[in-house]
This record gives sequence, C-alpha cells and structure tokens, in this order.
Amino acid sequence: MKDILTAPFVEDMKRATANMYRQTWDERNGGNISFMLEEEKVAEYLDLNNVIRTIPTGFDATGLIGKIFIVTGTGKYFKNVEVDPETNLGIIRIAEDGTTAELLWGWKDGGKFTSELPAHLMSHMARLKVNPENRVIMHSHPTYTLAMNHIHELDEKKLTHTLWEMCTECMVVFPDGIGVLPWMVCGTNEIGIATAKKMEEFRLVVWGLHGIYGCGKDMDEAFGLIETVEKAAMLYMLATASGKRINTISDSQLWEIVEAFHLEDSVRRDFLDL
Ligand code: 13P
Ligand code: ZN
Repeated sequence: MKDILTAPFVEDMKRATANMYRQTWDERNGGNISFMLEEEKVAEYLDLNNVIRTIPTGFDATGLIGKIFIVTGTGKYFKNVEVDPETNLGIIRIAEDGTTAELLWGWKDGGKFTSELPAHLMSHMARLKVNPENRVIMHSHPTYTLAMNHIHELDEKKLTHTLWEMCTECMVVFPDGIGVLPWMVCGTNEIGIATAKKMEEFRLVVWGLHGIYGCGKDMDEAFGLIETVEKAAMLYMLATASGKRINTISDSQLWEIVEAFHLEDSVRRDFLDL
C-alpha cells in the first residue's frame, strides 16, 4: 500500500487550500472543497473495506452511492491543510443507504465533513448530469467578489454582464455566466438544493453576501473560474472607487469574442443586449 500523504489528490487539496488562503479568499475556516476520486486510485493507498466510522449526512445522495470524495472538514482552517492533511481533510464514501458517509481516512481528531456537504454533494449530482467529467466543487469567500456584492445588484444577468465588461478574458472563461442566489442561511439542505438547481445551468454560483461556488473536471478548472471572477470583481471595485469609468467593452465587442473563440453554443445570449 502506498503512503496516502503522497497521493496526487491529497497534494491537489493541499495546493488548492494553500493558494486560496494566501489569496485571502478563505479566512479562518471559510471555504470548502470536495473532489470525487476514482475508486481504483484510492485503493492504491487505502483498504476500502476499512471504514473508520460512519457519519450521517442528513440528506439523500442516492445518486452518489459508492462514490468516494476527499473533502475539507468543518471548522478546519485552509491554512492548516498543508501542514496537517490528516486532521483537516477526510475521505468519505457514500454508503448504500445514500444518507451515510463512511470515513475511510482523515479527521483524525474526530472531526467531520464541511457543514456545506449538502451544497457540495447535491451540486456534484447536478453537474454530473450536465458534464460526466465533473469532479470538483469548490466554495470560497473571495474578497472583491464579496465587496462587489455590497454595491452591485444581485441579478444574474446584470452581475455577469458587469464582470464580462471588466476584462476580455471573462467572456472566454465563463461565457455561460454566473448564477446568483439571494442571501440565505448557509450550511443547510435548503441552500444545498438551491445551489444544485443553479448548477444545472451554471458552473459558477454566487451566494449573495457570502461567497461563490465553482466546479470543474479538476482543481485547476474550478479554481480558475473563481479566480477569473475575483479578478474581474477586483477590477470593478478599483475602477468604480476612482469615481469615473469612461471605457467599457461593448456588447457588440463581447459578441466578437464569442465568435473569435467559437463560444456560440455556451454563451448566455440572453445576458447580452445585441
Ligand atoms: P465549514 O467550516 O463547515 O466548511 O464552513 C465554512 C464555510 O465557508 C461555510 O459556508
Ligand atoms: Zn462559506
């Protein structure tokens, strides 16, 4: 059996959490990540018959029975993941009943999965229907994205459009736009259901005055989506703080990007006024 601390998926979690912490996106225990793993890969490092303990999830994830995830722990600080992965991360398998997580590794201090597990697993189920390659759901509290939430309408079309205008690459990275949920209490099944519903349509979902969700086939893709939104939000905050904005990318120019990058099938045309 190989040493789990050398597994690429543990390395991915360490790198992502460290980067997110250093970007100041994930203060204290803010943010959470779940990454769906291949059973054969996990079996190189762990005895899959050895369930350390079982933890009820409180919601139905029948669509993910038998699936294995590496997940950040509730109350765990992103800054600590790289120094002590076995306390701050866990590997769980969804049990036959669909409502229990079987702990295969991690949370060695008795901890458990993130309080946002409903939003994560429900979003995994939603995204897998749209894209069978999806593996990562990432939640974060990026600073400028949140600052922008205070001064910009929390409307999907308007928010997406403002961010598209901020720099040319935004249209290339998220032509499918950003879903927006109003402020809601976090850590509940209700916000999980609402997030997953948006994830049927969007790869990015803003939680009003809380943070953002991104997804992707790997850590880079999910991180890159959030990073691009955050960069655009930073530009928006800096540009508006100056009190004057005299230039923008017009809708017809945004459409030129769509054509140049062949994004006609993925772009939210209804978010443009052409
Ligand atoms: P957890 O510590 O339970 O992961 O919660 C952090 C968070 O960001 C809540 O939305
Ligand atoms: Zn959060």
